[in-house]
Amino acid sequence: MGKDVIIACDFPSRGHTFAFLDKFDTVKPYVKIGMELFYAEGPQIVRDIKARGHKIFLDLKLHDIPNTVRNAMRILSSLEVDMCNLHASGTRAMMEAALEGLTRPDGSRPLLIAVTQLTSTSQERMQNELLISSSIKETVLHYALNAKAAGLDGVVCSPLEAYEMHKCCGEEFLAVTPGVRFEGDESGDQVRIATPARAKEFGSDYIVVGRPITSSEDPLEAYLSCVRDFVS
Ligand code: C5P
Repeated sequence: MGKDVIIACDFPSRGHTFAFLDKFDTVKPYVKIGMELFYAEGPQIVRDIKARGHKIFLDLKLHDIPNTVRNAMRILSSLEVDMCNLHASGTRAMMEAALEGLTRPDGSRPLLIAVTQLTSTSQERMQNELLISSSIKETVLHYALNAKAAGLDGVVCSPLEAYEMHKCCGEEFLAVTPGVRFEGDESGDQVRIATPARAKEFGSDYIVVGRPITSSEDPLEAYLSCVRDFVS
């Protein structure tokens, strides 16, 4: 499975997004469309970015009753995205329903990835606020096993958890890892973080990088540096 760098295009509008993507004239990065942009611009933004030749991870993190998620996934599948996701905490029944909805009549479908614990969540918060008494690592691995049992393709987790996740679920089960920062960067609201080079050592399959690229003075160079450190 080829490794790749996915840029989180967390922008408030089409104008901001295309002004940003115009800086990438020589390469076509894999792009993540999250809630901010999708809710601002609707499904057409997905078609328009796809038409410019980018692969797309549609990061809407679905979490609802199985029937609702099945039907919502059917709609998302028709957008021809390459990857989409949901919360593993929605349980196996929800994940299985999601896969059903996502699978097209010809059997093809986008990759489906489960969020384990958000990379902004610390163990302390998870235990005190969510009353999950296990460690964050155990929780992530347990959610990953549930996602695998439901037939999904991988999980979103921290790069710090990618190695153990692969040991537990197999090398083929994808680790899609946000929480990536360059050496010396501010971590912002992220807690469980690593550099692109460390993410590679830990065995991440895809790194999802937002602000370190989008807020950089030279986004193309920041992206290429991620590619050099993570993919090459
Ligand atoms: O700007 P930054 O690099 O922190 O962006 C990380 C991106 O990955 C954001 O778009 C965020 O929504 C997303 N994400 C995450 N943690 C998860 C799942 C998705 O940070 N568990």
